[in-house]
Amino acid sequence: MNVKNDRAAWLKGGSALCSITPPPSPKKNWRLVLLGAPGVGKGTQAQLLSERLGACHLSTGDVFRAAKCLADGERSPALDRALGFMRRGELVPDEIVLDMVGERVSCLRCSGGFLLDGFPRTVAQAEALERLLQREKLALTAVLDYELPIETIVARLAGRRTCSGCKAVFHIEGLPPRVEGVCDHCGGKLIQREDDRPEAIRVRMAAYEKSTRPLMEFYQKRGLLVTVMAGKVPDETFQRTMAKLKTLSPA
Ligand code: AP5
Repeated sequence: MNVKNDRAAWLKGGSALCSITPPPSPKKNWRLVLLGAPGVGKGTQAQLLSERLGACHLSTGDVFRAAKCLADGERSPALDRALGFMRRGELVPDEIVLDMVGERVSCLRCSGGFLLDGFPRTVAQAEALERLLQREKLALTAVLDYELPIETIVARLAGRRTCSGCKAVFHIEGLPPRVEGVCDHCGGKLIQREDDRPEAIRVRMAAYEKSTRPLMEFYQKRGLLVTVMAGKVPDETFQRTMAKLKTLSPA
């Protein structure tokens, strides 16, 4: 399967509609959470998995970054506050994140399945997701936890470039675009994220250790945790992920 998803509804929220209708009754329906430290490669894997599995890549970080591009006055006060936390590398408060995900429940109901990247990130968010999915009579297939030494991660973040249009992720050395500064997929301009500055990277790593690592135990207890050692190149990590997923059966 090679699928291009439309994430308009996820990025815009509310009543926005996808331009691509998901298949009415797909045989396999993957509902995955991607866990791991900032920069471990969750977004890159979500991109590859989305193309292979047909499930939509839903990143909470992308929603906040999309909000940043709105004109002043178009953002709610809550979103303005969220962007302040993000710029400093801190976690956005749970209540703002949960409101934002709550406005987008239709994406979780999508018959194509989903790949949640960057959510949940605290135990309170994981509990809220669990209640939400129970209400919708949906179950997670698995939680993929990507692991990598911290020094490697910091080097990755420094070289990351992201498309300002379709949000595709590149790396100046590991995954360079065909033309410098230009997205291979949509021709958009590649930019460096504000929170990839060294001070913000330190704060993000500390927030991960304190708030997100405990989620491993949370999902381990539920029998959902699948650990994947991230490889030297994205394809190596992808092959390892697919090998682990082959042992699971989606809903
Ligand atoms: P978010 O956007 O979720 O960022 P993150 O978790 O910090 O993760 P990243 O996007 O930085 O990294 P990634 O793991 O996706 O790595 P990538 O694939 O890009 O969140 C940003 C902020 O938003 C948070 O700090 C917070 O403020 C807020 N936020 C979002 N959700 C929230 C929530 N639920 N609660 C509270 N706050 C929230 O890869 C990195 C680089 O490495 C790329 O250049 C890539 O090309 C390269 N690369 C990837 N894989 C490989 C590989 N195998 N080999 C070599 N290079 C590779």
